[in-house]
Amino acid sequence: MNIAIFGMGYVGAVSAACLARDGHQVFGVDVDPTKLDLLRQGYSPIVEEGIQELTSNVVEQGRLTVTDNVDEAIGQCALSFVCVGTPSQPNGSQDLGAIEKVAAQIGEALARHDQYHVVVIRSTVRPGTVMDRVRPVLEQHSGKQLGEGFGLAFQPEFLREGTSIKDYDNPPFTVVGGDSQRTLDGIRPVFEHLPCEFVGTDIGTAEMLKYACNAFHAVKIVFANEIGRLGQSLGVDSREVMRLVTQDRQLNISPAYLRPGFAFGGSCLPKDLRALLYIAKEQDMEVPMLAGVIPSNQQQIDHALQFILRSGKRRVGMIGLSFKSGTDDLRESPLVTLAEQLVGKGIELRIHDPNVQLSRLIGANRRYIEEKLPHLGRLLVDDAAELIGDADIVLLGLSDANLVEQVVSEASEAQVVLDLVGMPGRDRLRAAYRGICW
Ligand SMILES: NC(=O)c1ccc[n+]([C@@H]2O[C@H](COP(=O)([O-])OP(=O)(O)OC[C@H]3O[C@@H](n4cnc5c(N)ncnc54)[C@H](O)[C@@H]3O)[C@@H](O)[C@H]2O)c1
Repeated sequence: MNIAIFGMGYVGAVSAACLARDGHQVFGVDVDPTKLDLLRQGYSPIVEEGIQELTSNVVEQGRLTVTDNVDEAIGQCALSFVCVGTPSQPNGSQDLGAIEKVAAQIGEALARHDQYHVVVIRSTVRPGTVMDRVRPVLEQHSGKQLGEGFGLAFQPEFLREGTSIKDYDNPPFTVVGGDSQRTLDGIRPVFEHLPCEFVGTDIGTAEMLKYACNAFHAVKIVFANEIGRLGQSLGVDSREVMRLVTQDRQLNISPAYLRPGFAFGGSCLPKDLRALLYIAKEQDMEVPMLAGVIPSNQQQIDHALQFILRSGKRRVGMIGLSFKSGTDDLRESPLVTLAEQLVGKGIELRIHDPNVQLSRLIGANRRYIEEKLPHLGRLLVDDAAELIGDADIVLLGLSDANLVEQVVSEASEAQVVLDLVGMPGRDRLRAAYRGICW
């Protein structure tokens, strides 16, 4: 294919050289004359393992040419990748100036050419940028509508500087958010030879994915380093600790605990986190990320509370009370905290939790409820149907298949379901639906 690349920096220069190596005819566009001169002579503008040889090969073979003439590049290509910088402004917001300038230039060129063109944004941009900022600029300058004259996509770039050619050839996956199937089908052939899955999705998901990945990487580094500092202060070999942490592929390095949902609680996580923070205090050590975990967890409970209070509805039916599905353990349950806050705000609350009900009957949790939570014990109802029927808001905090099905079939148009667990079957709900954070 003939492919135009806008921005010959780290991402653009590597993509251009690799695409040309893979047999495509690549037109590199940049505003920096020094970079263009270097490339014309076969030199890569960046320093990376293997990039000099690759660049000089593809330039010599005539498969990578560069220009500052946007019209010339667009006129010969059906596909563009935009890889210009999106640096931070002093207040932390993203400077989209270069993206918007390129979009205007591409739009003007599209106005002069009839061929259908797909524009793929590869620069990291905040969710909403492609459809709300890039699309209007392209439409205004081209005089064409999205889907008629051009397609639009966002494809996050996962390469890392230092190993970028290897990363280009072995990405974790290829994810493309496109405005239509036609757009995705236009991009797929460029990447389908790579040894990974090609995932087509919507543009907002793809934009957010890049931030989620980078934030996750940063959080992993800081987590390991905070554990490292704590371990060092206690005379423990923290590299060995973290080596073993990564050996656990069931709970640690796995999808476990990585789905958005409700707050954590129970008899272990809050208690052990507090103990770890106390150790840090004893050692005169700052661990801001670990220290931020419990306040962030409380924010999740508050998020549910605020939704209910702002709705103006007064009758809430809470399904679930224990700290997670499948147990009767009420210790530090976030649902107990939420229930207490709702009661404190004068909400008419009813609670149904089959496990808590059972343990109350057979006595295991009886004393705990009677001594610690008598005010909530009185709100427990045995019949889920009665609870669902009486509520303005059904708060689903338990992923019990029968109860979920009951909510799906019994909640009516006049009710709202606040889902804390990611309920299946919500497309069949007659009630209004709201996810806790999705
Ligand atoms: N560097 C990385 O490892 C990496 C990885 C993934 C994603 N990203 C993202 O990719 C984007 C590019 O990053 P980078 O490190 O390659 O940036 P960079 O600063 O190295 O390169 C950007 C290039 O765009 C050019 N440019 C600016 N305005 C232009 C215009 N109007 N027309 C044509 N070219 C123009 C600049 O001259 C420069 O050569 C950023 O959004 C970045 O966040 C970077």
